[in-house]
Amino acid sequence: MIQYTKAKLSDIQEMQNLVVDEVKKGVILFRSSDEMATNIRSYILAKNENKIVGFGALHFHAYNLGEIRSLIVSQDCRGMGIGKGMVNTLVQEGKSMNVKEIFTLTYQKSFFESIGFTEIPKESLPAHKIWADCVKCKHFPVCDEVALIKTI
Ligand SMILES: CC(C)(COP(=O)(O)OP(=O)(O)OC[C@H]1O[C@@H](n2cnc3c(N)ncnc32)[C@H](O)[C@@H]1OP(=O)(O)O)[C@@H](O)C(=O)NCCC(=O)NCCS
Repeated sequence: MIQYTKAKLSDIQEMQNLVVDEVKKGVILFRSSDEMATNIRSYILAKNENKIVGFGALHFHAYNLGEIRSLIVSQDCRGMGIGKGMVNTLVQEGKSMNVKEIFTLTYQKSFFESIGFTEIPKESLPAHKIWADCVKCKHFPVCDEVALIKTI
């Protein structure tokens, strides 16, 4: 039985271990343990019997705009609905904070579409998001990530 819970500072090491392969591939952006600690309240975990099998974050950019980022499910647990469960949990959290729209930048277009997100031009996103995070990515500036958004 999968449980969705808030992350704690003591989870950071296990979270970094989970994401190491996707960071190497450039699918997920590397975040230092200090950066993760600063933003620890953004993260939720998917846990199976106390083992972290996935995590993701909801980051707020403006009073009406949030972003789902750093979404990962461990390789052996994919295709079981855990990613969808985490996105729905993060969307509920956004709703409880009264955010109006949640976007994501991703290579997983069909996955997000299956949860009600719609593709938008990347240029329509706030510039500070694009420049602050994209310049840290190893695919920058030639990148085929797409932007998707959901109104909640
Ligand atoms: C993307 C990811 C989080 C999906 O998690 P998951 O637990 O495997 O996905 P789910 O089992 O919840 O799938 C939910 C739905 O999306 C579909 N789906 C999942 N991955 C998909 C993919 N790569 N392409 C198309 N559809 C996909 C499933 O078929 C399912 O559809 P359904 O609800 O109609 O049955 C996971 O594959 C992953 O960690 N990938 C590597 C990291 C990554 O790319 N993260 C996204 C960066 S924002």
